Amino acid sequence: MRTISIINLKGGVGKTVTSINMAYELMHNHDCRVLLIDCDKQGNTSKFMKCHDYDKKSLSDVLLGTAGIMEVSVRTKFALIDVVPANMSLLKADRQVLLDTTKPQQSRVREALEQVRDQYTYCVIDCAPDINISVINALVASDDVIIPVTIDKFAFDGIREILEQIRDVKKYYNPKLEFIGCLVTQYKKSELCDEGIKLLEDFCGRVLETKISWTQVVSRSTFAGEPISVHSPRCGAAGGYKNLAAEYERRIGR
Ligand SMILES: Nc1ncnc2c1ncn2[C@@H]1O[C@H](COP(=O)(O)OP(=O)(O)OP(=O)(O)O)[C@@H](O)[C@H]1O
Ligand SMILES: [Mg+2]
Repeated sequence: MRTISIINLKGGVGKTVTSINMAYELMHNHDCRVLLIDCDKQGNTSKFMKCHDYDKKSLSDVLLGTAGIMEVSVRTKFALIDVVPANMSLLKADRQVLLDTTKPQQSRVREALEQVRDQYTYCVIDCAPDINISVINALVASDDVIIPVTIDKFAFDGIREILEQIRDVKKYYNPKLEFIGCLVTQYKKSELCDEGIKLLEDFCGRVLETKISWTQVVSRSTFAGEPISVHSPRCGAAGGYKNLAAEYERRIGR
């Protein structure tokens, strides 16, 4: 199983849309099983997959050690995608993890994923716009990281902190962690945007070739609860996410 975290401190940059569509394209490319982990108390991935439910177990239980991944994960309408849901209980779980110093705090998700390592080809983690203990758990459990970025005046806010966090996790907990690159989302062709991408390249060193175009279809696909390439196969963002999955697989040598 290869695990990838989709992360940015900024909100609204397309982390959730990228996680869902990447999970779908990776699954679709190879008919392989994918585990999609919602690591955000907002629970947007869980809502999209229709498994947001306060009565069921969630990522909080995994962090607290009260359930394993197999008990928590739920089947979705996409036969090969299972989801580990999240909800607002993650806020309390994060605090409880930090108070409990009797067990390692950063590697709980990694340890839990060991149980299902042979069952999935990929695990995609949709992170919160935050660096909290559950997001650090995601990084410690991951092989790879992608940072979705929208090119605007505030695009670089927080990227330095995330890159620092990736470096620290790599140094202290997870030497195999690889920064695959920044992914430009909600791209609109303009000189200004292309200038911004060049600045981003200088700033963070790695920007993926694939860009995801801005299109209203994306928002519609979230209302429909469908990946973009199911909802509107010919739209630019559908091609974008197919290319992203292919570029990612090239980068990891698959
Ligand atoms: N390529 C795109 N074109 C147009 N709209 C997009 C695109 N990608 C994402 N959006 C829209 O932008 C909004 C934010 O997307 P998303 O929820 O994926 O961001 P996020 O980074 O996960 O946000 P948060 O930090 O709150 O979790 C959504 O309304 C989504 O429909
Ligand atoms: Mg999100």
